[in-house]
Amino acid sequence: MTTEAIRAEYAEDISLAELEADPYPIFRRLQQEKPLAWVEKLGMWLVTRYPDVMHVVTNPELFTAETEPSFLADVLGVNMLTLEGEEARRIKSAMQPPFTARGCAKDYIDNELEDIAHALIDEFISDGEVELMTRYAEPVSTVSLQRCLGLDNIPRQRMWELCEGVCAGLANFEGDPALDAVYQKARDGIEEIVREKIAAVREQPDSSAIAYYVAPERGLTDEEITNNVRLMISGGINEPRDGIGMAIYAFQQHHQRSEDARLDRSFWLRFTNEVLRLYAPVGTAARMTTTPTRLAGVELPAGEFIAACLSAANRDAGFWEQPDEFLPGRKQKDHVAFSQGQHRCLGLWLGLHEIIVGASLLVERIPNLQLDTTRPPTISGFEFRGPKTLHLRW
Ligand code: HEM
Repeated sequence: MTTEAIRAEYAEDISLAELEADPYPIFRRLQQEKPLAWVEKLGMWLVTRYPDVMHVVTNPELFTAETEPSFLADVLGVNMLTLEGEEARRIKSAMQPPFTARGCAKDYIDNELEDIAHALIDEFISDGEVELMTRYAEPVSTVSLQRCLGLDNIPRQRMWELCEGVCAGLANFEGDPALDAVYQKARDGIEEIVREKIAAVREQPDSSAIAYYVAPERGLTDEEITNNVRLMISGGINEPRDGIGMAIYAFQQHHQRSEDARLDRSFWLRFTNEVLRLYAPVGTAARMTTTPTRLAGVELPAGEFIAACLSAANRDAGFWEQPDEFLPGRKQKDHVAFSQGQHRCLGLWLGLHEIIVGASLLVERIPNLQLDTTRPPTISGFEFRGPKTLHLRW
């Protein structure tokens, strides 16, 4: 069969707008009827069942992140998420340690994040209401990455603009020149601040991640550091922000006040993992077939683009009991909100703890927090999903 014939046999007429509005009913239908579906409007195959998604993300020799062409590499520069094999492992093993429980991220979570969160809450607590995403979730997330990287001399607003600018480039599928100009400025802006930081820590090392990266024993070039920090800025701010928003939303929706006595760290760890399972902030892991291979019962040729739908796998009824219910007490199994395999999130420890500390501290400080029912949250997105606004009152 030709590639066109295979695609035609498994075609599904689904638009990006439908997926962005609410992908979950679409995923449920695909899981039952067509677990591998060709979506012409995305130019990709969507794979939605848990075992198939796991198969894709854990077999890089069959499904590579080193795609050709690579939009991600064009926009951010070649980085660990656009490489496989030895090169991907070399860069990741040199860059992950600061973001683990043994790195500067741990010092930051233990010693700084609570003060930062308290200061942000102090700014709005007397108002009796807040739009949480802009006043709290985004600042917590932006400052956290800044501090860990050692870019805390940059004004927070500037850092957020740089994040939005590179994300505009990543979303500019139609080559809009206005978006391209915004993106180019952000791309160059990141290069400038990282170059300055590299020069500063060569002169005077500090405890930041970037200082760790420039040490000669890491074997990283300045370009590798810059491109991967650009990846972190594009992927390490929006997700914890959306996670904090969804955690507060879930707490308001599902938490029974009678349980308040048990709100310790182990409660919040289970709670946050269930938030990430049910409301995964990242929708897909994009890969390309390297060779003819079978996926979900379909023979695929080499060179096909696959979107392994993480947020679909996290609600696969074949893997999870009551997959659409929020059950923090459920038996712990591996959700794939951080993906799995070689490209499993580098910042997962930091991201998870930003959400735990950010959400728990807010409900401790404002115990009578409520969703503002006159302004319901606007939750949307396929590739990146979370609340655009979250209005709360107390
Ligand atoms: C709740 C928060 C977060 C979520 C849900 C999340 C999700 C993900 C996912 C799903 C991937 C894998 C993509 C793929 O397989 O194609 C990934 C990779 C990555 N994430 Fe995160 N992320 C979060 C926080 C962060 C933070 C705070 C950082 C900051 C450093 C970060 C940096 C990265 C990097 C560098 C990669 C690429 C890893 C590689 O290619 O080996 N993430 N993330």
